[in-house]
Amino acid sequence: MSDFIERFGRQRVLILGDVMLDEYVWGDVRRISPEAPVPVVEVRRRTSRPGGAANVAANVAGLGGSVCLIGLTGADPEGGRLRLELEALGIPGDVLIADPSRPTTTKTRIMAHQQQVARLDAEVREPASAELESAVLGCFEEQLGRSGICILSDYQKGTITGRIAQGAIERARAAGVPVVVDPKSRDFSLYRGSTVVTPNLAEAERAANRDLNGSRDPAAIARGLLRVLDGTALLITRGADGMSLFRRGLPPAHFPAEARHVFDVTGAGDTAVGVLALGLASGLPLEEATRAANAAAGLVVGKVGTATLTADELRAVFPAAAQRRPGVGSRLPGTTSCSASSA
Ligand SMILES: Nc1ncnc2c1ncn2[C@@H]1O[C@H](COP(=O)(O)OP(=O)(O)OP(=O)(O)O)[C@@H](O)[C@H]1O
Ligand SMILES: [Mg+2]
Repeated sequence: MSDFIERFGRQRVLILGDVMLDEYVWGDVRRISPEAPVPVVEVRRRTSRPGGAANVAANVAGLGGSVCLIGLTGADPEGGRLRLELEALGIPGDVLIADPSRPTTTKTRIMAHQQQVARLDAEVREPASAELESAVLGCFEEQLGRSGICILSDYQKGTITGRIAQGAIERARAAGVPVVVDPKSRDFSLYRGSTVVTPNLAEAERAANRDLNGSRDPAAIARGLLRVLDGTALLITRGADGMSLFRRGLPPAHFPAEARHVFDVTGAGDTAVGVLALGLASGLPLEEATRAANAAAGLVVGKVGTATLTADELRAVFPAAAQRRPGVGSRLPGTTSCSASSA
């Protein structure tokens, strides 16, 4: 196997999902408000970056892949800012569809002395109208032919309706393009026909209808979900416990977390899904693409203030020699590699 990370630069990834703007208002607190017992934050600066499906896009672009991003924004200044932020990363913003009936999903963190004081969420989680569904699917179909892989990134903000999920998966299947789904719906039958679905443990438990206080054994959860998924692989991300890959008729494969330092775990799932897709598009088997995704997630949780990686950062934990010998050596020092065990 040659340098698969180098091949990331030749992949075009079609991402469809709930795009968001992550906004930060930075300031200082010197006094309590005379109006109410709350701190007064003196604003110093404002920053913003792509969030949700747009953060998946930022991750793919950061690793050298080219991206077509389809999603819904409002017809508002935040939507304009999101497009500008994306364009600064080389991701075309004009494929996003402006829906005047909703605001651009925006999460605003008020930060004082590097600490979060409050978060303001602007969002309307209404499912896309039938008209918008048709527009999204039309756009998806148009972009599919030029893409090596698709990602459906569902944050339950209304973009990935049942009709859009099934319509996109059907079209991608017909075109022979693999689909990676980062799910939020409880109903995994919507994702049938995709290549792999990547819930975190809580999402998997919810979909399997299990009591959150009950067994957290991923194998037990996976058994039911694999039946619903009918041939689609299931990759459960388990935070500090790494990842577990389940496929019908195969023993599960477990990947211990590879993080050496943990600073900020938000967005690790977006990095994982982006790298998984780039790996599959580059020709890696699912198990090897998972290993790469797990290593990438392990790196990104150790970064402060940013949620994306560069190809060079990823290459540093994947020496070329290890990549030429699939299944051996592609791990960080002091960690164990993927271990397969029977269900
Ligand atoms: N505390 C942690 N320590 C080590 N690795 C972690 C930790 N949290 C996350 N990771 C890595 O990131 C991967 C994805 O994390 P997680 O399962 O939390 O996904 P997620 O809930 O979808 O994340 P998010 O929605 O915040 O992006 C894990 O499989 C693991 O490789
Ligand atoms: Mg997630």
